Amino acid sequence: MNKQITTIILGLGGRGRDIYGRYILEHPQEIKVVGIADVDEEKLVRVGKDFSLPKKACFTSAEAILAQPKMADCALICTQDKDHVNHAKMALEKGYHLLLEKPVSDSIEACEELVELAKIHKRHVVVCHVLRYTPFYNTIKDCITKGDIGEVVTVQAIENVGYWHQAHSFVRGNWRKTSESSPMILAKCCHDLDILLWLVGKSCKQVSSFGNNYLFKEEKAPEGATLRCTDNCLARKECPYDAVRYYVEDPVTGVKGGKKDWPINIVAPVPTEESVMEALKTGPYGRCVYHCDNDVVDHQVVNMLCEDGVTINFTMTAFSDRCYRYLKVMGTKGCIEADMDKNVVSVFKFGEEPIHYMIDNETSIEGHGGGDEKMMDQFIELMRNPEHISSLQTSLEKSIESHIVALKAEASRLEEGKVFTVK
Ligand SMILES: NC(=O)c1ccc[n+]([C@@H]2O[C@H](COP(=O)([O-])OP(=O)(O)OC[C@H]3O[C@@H](n4cnc5c(N)ncnc54)[C@H](O)[C@@H]3O)[C@@H](O)[C@H]2O)c1
Repeated sequence: MNKQITTIILGLGGRGRDIYGRYILEHPQEIKVVGIADVDEEKLVRVGKDFSLPKKACFTSAEAILAQPKMADCALICTQDKDHVNHAKMALEKGYHLLLEKPVSDSIEACEELVELAKIHKRHVVVCHVLRYTPFYNTIKDCITKGDIGEVVTVQAIENVGYWHQAHSFVRGNWRKTSESSPMILAKCCHDLDILLWLVGKSCKQVSSFGNNYLFKEEKAPEGATLRCTDNCLARKECPYDAVRYYVEDPVTGVKGGKKDWPINIVAPVPTEESVMEALKTGPYGRCVYHCDNDVVDHQVVNMLCEDGVTINFTMTAFSDRCYRYLKVMGTKGCIEADMDKNVVSVFKFGEEPIHYMIDNETSIEGHGGGDEKMMDQFIELMRNPEHISSLQTSLEKSIESHIVALKAEASRLEEGKVFTVK
């Protein structure tokens, strides 16, 4: 029988509770939670119950649990962006292997320091670049590796963040301000930069970028817009960002229609019509999108020049109806068009009939094209054989290039597209 892995979870939010917590509840033979930490007492009590943990295994901060002697094989670090490095350092020093949420850090030096620390303590750090585990991107990579399209010359890719996701996370929510989280190109798109560089298999040499916050600011507010959607706003009827409609009334996205999971459980941890309405009246998610304290971009383009003259063009945009990724990889003998919403990867070998791969990414945990679940499967395998598995799909070392490129892209954006060299 395979060894059951033990873990602690730091941060019990959308990732710690809803993704990894759920995975663990569904895989009791494989992995067991022996300790949890969150600064939010309500979450602590609820997740403690989920895992039948005694009170002494539930800590009121990551710092507090990490001050204890090591109590598990690994730690899942699912706290907020700014805390990852400190929590990771403390956990490595205690001897935990880590599953570390992205972004690792908005400081390249801090990322490098962490690589050194992991080496010193001989611990594995898996960064949650979940896209590398998806059947969708692995199909594209296989086609490229088989030589279906010859040599890759250029890539065009779009991350469609989705208008409501932008409003939820990047205008009203936790990732709205660079100073409190990180620049959007790092926070949201380090995934994309990572996967695109992995697909072309070449390092990035130079980067430039443009982008700004076009819409979500005071001067764009429609006439009659109030500070909150709950304040008898005169613009509500025509506004696609109306929080009351989205979180409460809409039959698909609202609590009235029965929706209880993300993103409503971020608005109110136990969503009912009353609790969500109350949260909209008083909390961040009921604020008018034109009257928030956000400063991250709502669209950005990044141009990358890679080794051998290969180029990548990437666009991130809030302005799409659905959240999905699309890309076209163009090679010397063919091209690949891939749509993550339709789950289709089409290979066009020049002069031949196209081949369409329908991607099956059915997993019990929704989101990220099945990547979350597959990453956890592989993480558990690694934890069972930490001495024998050395090549990790999303090691800290491999993840850092995307962070460097993202930070250079942000520097370029702030200097109106100046070209930056990536070493
Ligand atoms: N890999 C991915 O695809 C992916 C997707 C979404 C989010 N993320 C990243 O995962 C991380 C968590 O995101 P989330 O959506 O779960 O956020 P969240 O805000 O829902 O959860 C973070 C939790 O950490 C807790 N926390 C804050 N300070 C703490 C401390 N000192 N000790 C213990 N707990 C503390 C908060 O109370 C909260 O419950 C973020 O860094 C985010 O960028 C990654």
